[in-house]
Amino acid sequence: MNNTVKSPWQTVCKLSELPPGLFLEFRIHQPDRDPDTIPLTGFAFLQDGNPAAYVNQCPHLGVELNWMPGRFMDTDNLFIQCSTHGALFKPGTGECITGPCQGEYLTALDVRVEEGQVQIRFPD
Ligand code: FES
Repeated sequence: MNNTVKSPWQTVCKLSELPPGLFLEFRIHQPDRDPDTIPLTGFAFLQDGNPAAYVNQCPHLGVELNWMPGRFMDTDNLFIQCSTHGALFKPGTGECITGPCQGEYLTALDVRVEEGQVQIRFPD
């Protein structure tokens, strides 16, 4: 029997608030998480016209990817870039293609749009 309780969907913004090129940061609600630990954040953006979201955490050292609010892409605007050591990630899959965590992945969040609201949750 599977007793796994899926995390609830969390609304992060209206779809209309997520134009192409915008990266929206949000705090991930985790009621079971130790309140003394640093809260997890995520970011959402449009990928090929559909909302996508990842946990804002580099697989290399676990730090947040961006050092400026809403700035996640490299200068060519092709890849998500970690500001600490420059690792590059494919926006569509989260795969690191170069850098110290090459071959690892960003943690993708489940995303859905319900009544015009972008919602996320941790995958199974
Ligand atoms: S912390 Fe992201 S590449 Fe090192």
